[in-house]
This record gives sequence, structure tokens and C-alpha cells, in this order.
Amino acid sequence: MTDRPVVYVGMSADLIHPGHINLLRRADELGDVTVGLLTDGAIASYKRLPHMTYEQRKAVVESLQTVRQIVAQETLDYVPNLERIKPDFVVHGDDWRTGVQEQTRQRVIDALEQWGGKLVEVPYTEGISSTQLHESVKQIGTTPNVRLSRLRRLLANKPLVRILEAHSGLTGLIVENSSVEVDGHTKEFDGMWSSSLTDSTARGKPDIEAVDISSRLLTVNELFEVTTKPLVFDADTGGQPEHFSFNVRSLERLGVSGVIIEDKEGLKRNSLFGTEVAQTQSRIEDFSERIAIGKRAQITNDFMIIARIESLILDQGMDDAVERSEAYIEAGADGIMIHSRRTEPNEIFEFCRQFDKLPKRVPLVAVPSSYHQVTEAELADHGVNMVIYANHLLRAAYPQMAKVAESILQHGRAHEAEPLLAPIKETLAIIPENA
Ligand code: SPV
Ligand code: MG
Repeated sequence: MTDRPVVYVGMSADLIHPGHINLLRRADELGDVTVGLLTDGAIASYKRLPHMTYEQRKAVVESLQTVRQIVAQETLDYVPNLERIKPDFVVHGDDWRTGVQEQTRQRVIDALEQWGGKLVEVPYTEGISSTQLHESVKQIGTTPNVRLSRLRRLLANKPLVRILEAHSGLTGLIVENSSVEVDGHTKEFDGMWSSSLTDSTARGKPDIEAVDISSRLLTVNELFEVTTKPLVFDADTGGQPEHFSFNVRSLERLGVSGVIIEDKEGLKRNSLFGTEVAQTQSRIEDFSERIAIGKRAQITNDFMIIARIESLILDQGMDDAVERSEAYIEAGADGIMIHSRRTEPNEIFEFCRQFDKLPKRVPLVAVPSSYHQVTEAELADHGVNMVIYANHLLRAAYPQMAKVAESILQHGRAHEAEPLLAPIKETLAIIPENA
């Protein structure tokens, strides 16, 4: 370091553009620039996980002439780093005076005051923004490797990964693009679930592994053509153990991030039937072997094999569920999904408490289809790492479609059904290429 003033610039630096370069140039005029590079966790706390990993972003910023030093900024809040570094200046774009960052800005001003530092705000560079670039990146698409590895990155950086079912290009676009602002934070779905229930139902078939893997992969391919988010695949029982290794490789090749297989044998029926229909749970040893076969077959390190425990669905008791968790983790499972068909989450919460005491911890997945009052915050508080909304887009569409069909029959014309329909213009606008 020189005896020039110390200048601190906090940035995500995911898609570097002329706006960033202008800002760093101004910062460099004031002194020696230290970039506080936000970690993946810091960024994921208030918006989408960045395209590039921390290490990749660091490599880019390091090569900029105007940057002297890089430190990790672990939180959206600058104060911990500022108190350590005590810079003479903080430089930031002037676009954070209102909105989500208003408070962050005030905390920066208050911290700098303690040692006589100053905040310098650089006018926003017109004509280019990270948001625009992000949209362009989404349109270009992604590669299988980038998509595949994203699930592990999400699990490592978010308290709860939020997944929604998709069974067609259209539903994939809904998962990709739905976004709301809550308390100034952008909330989105992190990825898609290819559900055996909805993929079968959309084809008018029962959820009994009757839709073969090739057809299921066609759906995945259709989803991947129009989205960039990661996908978790519901592989039912995994099929014949000998077939499972082929299936794992096919899924990886496409860029699927992980597979969930359930510990059942014979004719698989949907779990939400519970004990109303005959369903057989696998022996622990047999299912552990199925997990091990999958682990041996996978090629990338990032692909995840998640073991789904059906003990609570089949009334086999909590102890059995916990014992199986330990065995499946021992067999190599990268995650555990615990399922329940109760209408209250108590059983899941009790499982979570016991799961936390196991010698080895892996990500825990919950599917609150029947206990739907539970909130994401409650699940996260109990240690759940991934929530899957497993069938909701299909269940949303079906009643409306059936109503429209009946209305046309009843009235002998389509006029009465119009209020139930999206206007043609809105329908066309769903597809970005139509715009
Ligand atoms: C699915 O979505 O197909 C599932 C979850 O496996 S459940 O339907 O609840 O069994
Ligand atoms: Mg299923």
C-alpha cells in the first residue's frame, strides 16, 4: 500500500460493465482502491445468486488496473469491513439513496463519521445496467455444467432453497420469471422440480412409473430449452438398480442437478395415497445399495443423489425414519428428503430435531403438499434446507381448464368463459420472442 488515501468500493461484480469501470476510475482518482467483493452468501441474502462464483468474480476484479486490493464482504452491510479497514472514502453509485439499500447507505455514512471518512457518490451511468445484462444472459441460456452445479452453490449460500414444480416449457418459464419484491428484497424460485406426479398427470397417466424415462427426459429437455435455473428430478424408486446408473448419467448429461429416489419397492403408488393402497418399503440394505449404485455411476462431483424416506407416509414410525436417514447418509446420499401426508407439520418438525443429532449432516428436503400452512421461515428454523412445492402449477391449471370446457358446453359459445381466460395479448406476451 502507498500513502494515498484508502478508498473502499463494495461490489458484486458479476457482470462487469462500463458503469462499474467509471465508478472504479473515480475511486482510483481519490486514492488506493480496496474492493469489498460480496460473497455468494451476501448476494443471495437479498437477490439472485450471481452467475459467477466468488472465485471467478475475484479473478475478474483482480485484473482491473484501478483495483489495488480485494477483501471479502460477507454481508450486505458494509459496517464490519469499514470498521476494520477505516477507509478515507467509500465510493458508490448514486442509485442507492432510495429502495432496498437506503438503510445500508445510512449505516455507511454513520460508520465513516467515526473516523472522519467520506461517502462519495458517482452518478449512475445511463444506458447500461446489471438488470438489463442479466435479462440478456437469461435469453442466451446456460450450459449443462453451469446449471448442474448451481444447486450445490444455492444450498451452500441460502438458508432455504425454494423449488417449484414444472412440467412443460410454459410452466418452466413461470418458475424462471416469477419475481416479487417483499420488504425491498427480490424473491424468486431457485429451481424446478420435475415431479413424477405432474409429469404423468399432464400426460393423462397414473403416477406409477408408467411414463418411461425417455419421455420424462423429453420434458426435462423442453424445460431446459427455455430456462436457466437448476432442476431436481423425481426418479420415483430409481427403477431397476441396473437401469439407475444409466439414468443418472443421462440426467447429468442434460445438466440436471440432482435426483431424488424413494425407498419403495414393486409397483410404486403416489405417496399421498399413504396406506390406502398397497405399497412396500425397501429393506434398508437394498435401498442403501441403490444409492451406492447411483453414486458410483455419476461423473461430475456436483450431481446430488437425494434419498427420500417413506417411513412416515407408510406409518413405520419416527425411529425407523431416523435410522434410515443415518444408513442412507452412510451409503453416500447427498441429501435426505423426508415426506409426510399429515396436515400439520409437527411430525416433520420432530424428525428435524432428531435429524440434527445424527453424526453426519446433509441437506434436508421437505415437501409441504399436505401441511401447507407451514411457512418457509418455520421450515428453515427447523433446519430444512430445501422446500419443494411439488405439484402446484398443474393443480392451478386443471380446475380452470375444466371450468372453461364446461362453460363452453353449457352456453354453446365461448363468450361466458372469457373472464376465466388470459387476454390473447397477455398470452402472446408470455413468450419473450413474441414481444
Ligand atoms: C411428486 O411430485 O411426484 C412427488 C411428491 O413424488 S408426492 O406427489 O407428494 O409424492
Ligand atoms: Mg413422485
